[in-house]
Amino acid sequence: MRYERLGRSELAISPVGLGTLPLGGSYGPYTARQADQVVGRALDLGVNLFDTAPNYGEAEDMLGRALGRRRRDVVIATKGGTVCDEQGRPTNDARPEALKGALDASLRRLRTDWIDLYQLHLPDPMTRAEQTWETLQEFVHEGKIRYIGLSNFWDEELGTWPNDGETVSNQLPYNVVYRDIERGLLHRCARRGIGVIAYQPLLSGLLTGGIPDTSGAGDHRAGHPQFAEAAASCVALTDNLRPLADELRLSQAQLALAWVVSRPGVPCALVGTRSGEHLEELSRAADRGLTQEERAAVDRVLAEAQVEVVRTVPMPVEEILAGPYGPVARLAMGIKVRAPEGVEAGDQVYMDIVTGRLSAGTMDA
Ligand SMILES: NC(=O)c1ccc[n+]([C@@H]2O[C@H](COP(=O)([O-])OP(=O)(O)OC[C@H]3O[C@@H](n4cnc5c(N)ncnc54)[C@H](OP(=O)(O)O)[C@@H]3O)[C@@H](O)[C@H]2O)c1
Repeated sequence: MRYERLGRSELAISPVGLGTLPLGGSYGPYTARQADQVVGRALDLGVNLFDTAPNYGEAEDMLGRALGRRRRDVVIATKGGTVCDEQGRPTNDARPEALKGALDASLRRLRTDWIDLYQLHLPDPMTRAEQTWETLQEFVHEGKIRYIGLSNFWDEELGTWPNDGETVSNQLPYNVVYRDIERGLLHRCARRGIGVIAYQPLLSGLLTGGIPDTSGAGDHRAGHPQFAEAAASCVALTDNLRPLADELRLSQAQLALAWVVSRPGVPCALVGTRSGEHLEELSRAADRGLTQEERAAVDRVLAEAQVEVVRTVPMPVEEILAGPYGPVARLAMGIKVRAPEGVEAGDQVYMDIVTGRLSAGTMDA
């Protein structure tokens, strides 16, 4: 396994990280025994980055237990800045008091004294970036976290984040369909010593050559617009890539993954797999990577394929709040995002499911 530095940090990480969303049951029921198996296989393969979050069900607990004494050998990346609101919905809250309690709870569940990479899960448009940043700096000075990471920070939010020495990563969606980060953000991150950790490299399974079975109890993908409306387009896209994958002797999942991690500035992709075999298959592909010519060949197929993937959904606005950077919409799902001028409570707006941006045009409620 080859390892690469994460941004300006001293963390050397594997090109594939284990995403623990499935450990918490987000892709159907999951047992502690299965968690032990997949984490054990990851360690055997040399995978050393483990990404988790307090809101991935039992994932932190399962990961901490499965790592046991091997904890020192790995990079634990967890997240803070999301809580449940009064109605039990997840919402973003990066105020100091919310972060302090959350970090201590994560340390307990993960059975460790320190987090290697503590990531702010979502920007919180109701809290000034400096306030959150100072709290995270305190965590570094206390030795509770080694480095600060961001997640879902697009240009606007990165612009307000202090330029420091400890923020070393930004976790963003990146795959052959969602290429938004190529339009400048990747370069801006690189200039600030921030490495991009790609999530959904296989678009939650839609880029592996078939539509994943989402019938397991609690599988959050069932009914998600990505699956309901985009699945057929994704399958069409991967069908177009199949001849090239065959020529390179790669499975479609391997080609999709190798394409992501061969992009300069993207040292690691997180794979949310429940299968040790799949993890091994992808680790081999990540190690192999793609040459510039092979990447260009994929890009040619993508340019010619012209497959449209739906990524905008109507979203009711519950409340408009006054945030420090302008108006903020609390969406019916609980999350708060910056709102375009003129949007009012009760409106339905369009939301981009990749960037979380609301578009200015509103729909009739
Ligand atoms: N920061 C954020 O806001 C955010 C958001 C989403 C995700 N994430 C992180 O990113 C991680 C990965 O994202 P993700 O889980 O959504 O999607 P993903 O890794 O793109 O896709 C996972 C799916 O691909 C399938 N798969 C994996 N390898 C395969 C192979 N070789 N052949 C066929 N199928 C294969 C898996 O099924 P099997 O289980 O059968 O392998 C699973 O259904 C998450 O676990 C989480 O840690 C972060």
